[in-house]
Amino acid sequence: MIEETMEEQVKWVEGLLTQFGNSRTSLIPILQAVQAKYRYLPQNVMTEISTQLGLPLSSIYGVATFYAQFSTEPKGRHILQICDGTACHVRGAKELIERIRKDFGLSEEKNTTDDKFLTLETVACIGACAMAPALIADGHIYGQVKVDKLLEIVKELKEGDVQ
Ligand code: FES
Repeated sequence: MIEETMEEQVKWVEGLLTQFGNSRTSLIPILQAVQAKYRYLPQNVMTEISTQLGLPLSSIYGVATFYAQFSTEPKGRHILQICDGTACHVRGAKELIERIRKDFGLSEEKNTTDDKFLTLETVACIGACAMAPALIADGHIYGQVKVDKLLEIVKELKEGDVQ
């Protein structure tokens, strides 16, 4: 969690507008920078961008919700994307998804653990069907993942976790 004063936040947004330009066409790189810093789009930062860019907040959210790369909810420090495309599904993706949900108290509606350690996302084909079932943990692809390997991957995430 990033702790900063309102003033620091306003200044940071000013810096973004200086860097990327003070117009509607700069919105995507600005949102990308916000997402990279906070791992989601906090409402107060969106409001500040709306004020400084002179764009209605609804237009900014319209753009933000159109692109899957942006999240309006806080995400975990680690992102586990389990592929549930056809090839992975028939080779046991469901078992992996259920195991993570069970171990971390997650569900279809609740994807992020309360301590923000992990966000579980189920995704369609990630182009690794030959290695099904496959998943991506913090950007790294793993194939032929069985429950044992999944638990190992999660253990590694825990070991490398910095709060
Ligand atoms: S269906 Fe999972 S990688 Fe293609």
